[in-house]
Amino acid sequence: TWTMGNVIEEQVAEIRARVGTKRAICGLSGGVDSAVAAALVQKAIGTQLTCVYVDHGLMRKGETEQVEKDFVAATGVQLKVVDAEERFLTALAGVSDPEQKRKIIGREFIRVFEQAQAEIVAEAAGEGEDVAFLVQGTLYPDVVESGGGTGTANIKSHHNVGGLPDDIEFELVEPLRMLFKDEVRMVGQELGLPEEIVQRQPFPGPGLGIRIVGEVTKDRLDLLREADAIAREELTAAGLDRDIWQCPVVLLADVRSVGVQGDGRTYGHPIVLRPVSSEDAMTADWTRMPYDVLARISTRITNEVAEVNRVVLDVTSKPPGTIEWE
Ligand code: XMP
Repeated sequence: TWTMGNVIEEQVAEIRARVGTKRAICGLSGGVDSAVAAALVQKAIGTQLTCVYVDHGLMRKGETEQVEKDFVAATGVQLKVVDAEERFLTALAGVSDPEQKRKIIGREFIRVFEQAQAEIVAEAAGEGEDVAFLVQGTLYPDVVESGGGTGTANIKSHHNVGGLPDDIEFELVEPLRMLFKDEVRMVGQELGLPEEIVQRQPFPGPGLGIRIVGEVTKDRLDLLREADAIAREELTAAGLDRDIWQCPVVLLADVRSVGVQGDGRTYGHPIVLRPVSSEDAMTADWTRMPYDVLARISTRITNEVAEVNRVVLDVTSKPPGTIEWE
């Protein structure tokens, strides 16, 4: 019978046979797919796997810690964390255009990741070991969409670390390529991964960088992180995590409105709540969620987050609105 326990055993055996005594690298994004793929490969080959996590400073509150501490504690995986917050913020300084932001974040991400990768390859080579595999959390729907076929990833290295060749060629290991999302979550659970990672809702690669309308700065990110943490806390407390596909929390940093607090006038920023219901993110509807939960989120954000004096609800379906604001 087809159980997640069988899937794990089968994959572990297959990965061991394929990787042999060579080494593998896996990029962790904080999302469920890469985490489960890494955990499976770690179970198969242990310290022959090194994971890389690029902290771009655009994650939500607690997410980097979940990877650095909880994921590592649950799996014993060897992890290289690259703190690249300053680099990303510098590259994003002065940029408000959404497409520009996405391009910059994508570009910096690849550069930082490839540099870390090259360092790992060089270190291993120093010990006479060959890094030959790159682990990816490709799911069955991704495989179907791209027309099947396994391949190799041809990674161009921009940084010549220790006289490495310019092109590092890896074979791909994709242990989730037969699975759907819900099965991946079951495998993750079976592997003992933290609930917060296994049940995580979709979160975009560019992170909070595309949830700040206006320039991305450290202060604005901190403010949005607080508001987002409150919304997530209340949605979870209300038991709505499974009813809501995802709920972007957006800071309108370029907008101010007048408010009143105590005896004083305020002139602060609005926060947008964007709860959506969806099957596959291609189309979506705004979630009709309980008013009292919305009220609690609104009251807490305006009380607890300095400079936010208004909370608004996005009641647009997709299309015409996208799920994210940028
Ligand atoms: P939109 O905003 O296009 O989002 O309706 C559809 C889904 O995709 C997510 N999203 C991204 N995910 N990198 C990602 O990994 C991205 O650049 C990106 N942009 C949007 C979004 O959160 C939603 O689930």
